[in-house]
This record gives sequence, C-alpha cells and structure tokens, in this order.
Amino acid sequence: MECKSSLILLCLSVIFTEVISTQDNVCSRPQLSDNIQLEGLQRYFRPGAELALSCKQGFTPISGPLRIVCAASGQWTSTKLKCIPKRCPYPDDLTNGEMYYEDVVYQSTINYTCNEGYTLNGERSAVCLANGTWSTPVPECTVVTCGLAPIPLNGLIIYDRRIRGNSTEFGVQGTYKCRPPFVLIGEARAECTVSGNWTKTPKCQVVTCPPPENIDRGYMSVDEEREYDYMETVKYGCHGDYVLEGSSEIVCQQNGNWSDKPSCKAPCSVDIRGARIIYRGRKMWIRDLNPKKVLHNEIISVFCKDKTRKCGYAVPTQCIDGQLRIPDCFEESSAFGHILHSSSLPSEIQQC
Ligand SMILES: *[C@@H]1O[C@H](CO)[C@@H](O)[C@H](O)[C@H]1NC(C)=O
Ligand SMILES: *[C@@H]1O[C@H](CO)[C@@H](O)[C@H](O)[C@H]1NC(C)=O
Ligand SMILES: *[C@@H]1O[C@H](CO)[C@@H](O)[C@H](O)[C@H]1NC(C)=O
Ligand SMILES: *[C@@H]1O[C@H](CO)[C@@H](O)[C@H](O)[C@H]1NC(C)=O
Ligand SMILES: *[C@@H]1O[C@H](CO)[C@@H](O)[C@H](O)[C@H]1NC(C)=O
Repeated sequence: MECKSSLILLCLSVIFTEVISTQDNVCSRPQLSDNIQLEGLQRYFRPGAELALSCKQGFTPISGPLRIVCAASGQWTSTKLKCIPKRCPYPDDLTNGEMYYEDVVYQSTINYTCNEGYTLNGERSAVCLANGTWSTPVPECTVVTCGLAPIPLNGLIIYDRRIRGNSTEFGVQGTYKCRPPFVLIGEARAECTVSGNWTKTPKCQVVTCPPPENIDRGYMSVDEEREYDYMETVKYGCHGDYVLEGSSEIVCQQNGNWSDKPSCKAPCSVDIRGARIIYRGRKMWIRDLNPKKVLHNEIISVFCKDKTRKCGYAVPTQCIDGQLRIPDCFEESSAFGHILHSSSLPSEIQQC
C-alpha cells in the first residue's frame, strides 16, 4: 500500500483497523438512532475501549449514559440515550395578522401574514434555531395609511369619523359634497384603499342642459328659450288624437343632456265598410264608429269566415302610429250586399 505524506495518518488508521478486524471480539462502530453523534471516525474498537455519545446540534439528550464501553464479548454496553429536538418558545400573537406553524421545535418554520389593509414590517417567516431561539423576532402589522382625501374645487368631504392629524387609516370613508349650484359628478362616497390612496375624487361642476326642443304634434310646458339647470324638468303633451309614448316629463341630467323625450303617435283610420267590429269590448257596426278612427295602441277586432266549417270568428288588430293592418282573412262586403244579406256576414253567423 502506497501512502502520500499528507494522507499518512489516514493510511495508518486504515492499516490498523484492518489488523484488528482480523482478531475476534472487537466491537464495530455502533449503529445508533438518528440524531445521536459518536465521537471520532474509528470503525473497530478493542474490548475495554470507550466511546462518547452526544446529540446532534439542535437536539437535547435525555437519559443516558453518554458513554458506552466495548465489552470482551464484542458487544457495546447499552444506553437509553435519546436525542429530542430543541423547542423554541411559542411565538407571541401577531396583532392584525396570522401565523402559520405546525410545530415549534428545531427547524420548524413560522409564516407570518398581515390582514388586508396592514403592511408587514419584518421577516415573513422565522425558523427555530439549534439553540432554541427563533431566527427573527415576530414582525409587526402596521395599518395602511392614506393621507387626507383630496378635495375637489368647490367641494368638501365629510369623514364618517373624526380624523386626527394628516393621515387616514385604511377603511376610513367619507362623503363628498359640492357647494350649490355646483353638482357632484362621480362617486360621492370615497374611502382610503388598501393601496394607500383614496378612491377616485369626484368633480363639482355647474351642469346645464340646452333649451329643450318641442316634439312633433305635441307641446311643452315651457316656452322660455333658456338653459336649464341640473334636475330641472319639462313636461310634454300631444295634440288632438295623438297619443304620448314615453315619459311625459324629461329631466336635465348630470351629463348635461336631457333624459329621453317622449313622442306623439298618430291615430289610425278604420277603412272598412259594412261590417261589424269589436271595439273597446263592444260589438258594433262600423257606421257607429264616429269618427272612423282608433287611437295609437288601441285594438279592434274584425270578423272572418271559416269557409269549411261555415262559422265566423273575431281577429284582433292593433293601431301602431297611424298603421292599422286589416287581417287578410277579412272580406269586405259591398254596402248593397250588406243590406240584403247582413245575416250571412261572418259577424252574424254562428261563431266558431
Ligand atoms: C411557509 O411558507 C413556505 C413558502 O411559501 C411554505 O413552503 C411552507 O409550507 C409554509 N409553512 C407553513 C407552516 O405554513
Ligand atoms: C442562537 O443562535 C443564533 C445563531 O446562531 C445567534 O445569533 C443567537 O445569538 C443565539 N441565541 C442565544 C440565546 O444563544
Ligand atoms: C401635516 O403635513 C404638513 C406637511 O406635509 C406638516 O407640515 C404638518 O406638520 C402636518 N400636520 C400634522 C398635524 O401632522
Ligand atoms: C391607487 O394606487 C393603486 C396602486 O398603486 C393604483 O392601481 C390605483 O389606480 C390608484 N387609485 C387611484 C384612485 O389613484
Ligand atoms: C348627450 O347626447 C348626445 C346626443 O344624444 C350624445 O352624443 C352625447 O354623448 C351625450 N353626452 C353625454 C355626456 O352623455
């Protein structure tokens, strides 16, 4: 066996252990549970040799002995030594935050988080060290602050609670108001957000709508040519037989536009002769409809004949802005025929 000078010591010990391993009754390096440490590196021991035991770092010895002896039989004397992990103290509560840990022994970790609206000052986690202390102290959760809410020109804010100094805490809310005649445009409620800034500041503006325009075949409640203020209203009506559709009142909106105007819808003339109709729940001759028209949205029914079953039935139709569609099944009788054979009209025969 060749030995280089730097390795001489190691070589000698290898040779030595080879020598003694050939003898009977030597103890070989014992197999002990994890976390127990044996001194030295020696693999074989003569009877009478002692071996010192200790715990790995981070572990504490319980019971013993801490020393075993190689007996003449080649067996080590017994030991009840156990090495248990060191414990770190339970951490103090984290105000306004949460801690997560499974255990508080050597190498356990604690994770820290702060509640919404709080910032973590310190380390996000700590490890239980070999000497039974935590690697870092418990961090602090400090509340997010925003400063005072920005104030719009011609406006003010009323906080929900009293504010001390120049700063507001996360969650503080307030309501914006504008000095008349300024109108608040945007969101009146505001709050100090998680990001440390206030929600969007509204604006205080003077809102006017242009002079309102009249509607076709109708009239307005005003005739002044002027601009109108926010929330002012104007009413509309329709002339004669025209029917107002939509809201009869418009309002000057925040955006300076009027709400939607209504419109006036035309009546329908009923261009049929010599027949009966149903109008407003009443069966009547067309000549008794005077004038011969119905209003927008009104319904009349005319009578048609089922030629195979030889019976009559009513078909409704609706007036839509001057348009009244007479059902295709309706057959107009001549005025003459009507006088002679009125009893054969679809409205007069048996109904289906
Ligand atoms: C702590 O956080 C780390 C990394 O996010 C994760 O791997 C670990 O499981 C967490 N430990 C506990 C006890 O929550
Ligand atoms: C524990 O060990 C850490 C790191 O080795 C050291 O910084 C700290 O001072 C030790 N604490 C005590 C109480 O010995
Ligand atoms: C408010 O802030 C101003 C400037 O930022 C500072 O000069 C003043 O001392 C602060 N006032 C209070 C009550 O903190
Ligand atoms: C507040 O700050 C956050 C993050 O910096 C940003 O995304 C957001 O737009 C800000 N909000 C306002 C109203 O300025
Ligand atoms: C007002 O109405 C006009 C026409 O309908 C439209 O183009 C405009 O966008 C509206 N203005 C606002 C602020 O909504």
